[in-house]
Amino acid sequence: MYILLMGPPGAGKGTQAANLVQKYNIPHISTGDMFRAAVKEGSELGKKAKACMDGGQLVPDEITIGIVRERLAKPDCAKGFILDGFPRTVEQADALDGILKELSISLTRAVDISVPSDVLVERATGRRICKKCGATYHIRFNPTKTEGVCDECGGETYQRADDSEATMKNRLSVYEAQTKPLIDYYKKAGLYSEIDGSQEMSKVFADITACLK
Ligand code: AP5
Ligand code: MG
Ligand code: ZN
Repeated sequence: MYILLMGPPGAGKGTQAANLVQKYNIPHISTGDMFRAAVKEGSELGKKAKACMDGGQLVPDEITIGIVRERLAKPDCAKGFILDGFPRTVEQADALDGILKELSISLTRAVDISVPSDVLVERATGRRICKKCGATYHIRFNPTKTEGVCDECGGETYQRADDSEATMKNRLSVYEAQTKPLIDYYKKAGLYSEIDGSQEMSKVFADITACLK
């Protein structure tokens, strides 16, 4: 199963990727998570990525394509993967085509989790993430049992630096301008499936698995 998870910021890509990992036992590859890990390490890549992410802009294509190329060549990707948040530009999509060709891999589906933008702002600003295990919560739609404490591991939860209302507005306009053209890109490739991401989480997951059959 070689899955692309597409969709605007806050649509539920990470949430559904976690469910897909459980079901298919394939790696979850999120460029956003990779950049956040680099920021935490304080590496050169992290410094470059942080400046872009904090403003809600994209990290330059050549950097992003390089890290994905390296990641997809790892042996655990041979039997499948869930790509979350990549590609985000037509240039990245073209590069991905080339990388997959070299690896003799054909994409199974490009699954687009579609959600109206007013809902997205509420999803992002209410999101909380566990510092220790990365589990994702929402103060209203999926709260922790005790405020600020992860249900899974007892770790402390935090808010992402780019989940403010102002940065979210930039992220949404970047999505409209640079990422939305990929809908047509994958429609033309005959790989596109649109899922109604405004439904409750379990229903979204059921629709995703149905379109992968
Ligand atoms: P990235 O981390 O990928 O952020 P994003 O695309 O903006 O998406 P999010 O992670 O914010 O949302 P999500 O769809 O995963 O939603 P989630 O499941 O958490 O990228 C961050 C930055 O990195 C970018 O801005 C850019 O700078 C850089 N970057 C990354 N990839 C790049 C690339 N390819 N090229 C260049 N730069 C790149 O859910 C959100 C919230 O909603 C949660 O609280 C969740 O609990 C809740 N929720 C989920 N589903 C539902 C539901 N059905 N009903 C109610 N609530 C729900
Ligand atoms: Mg995410
Ligand atoms: Zn945790």
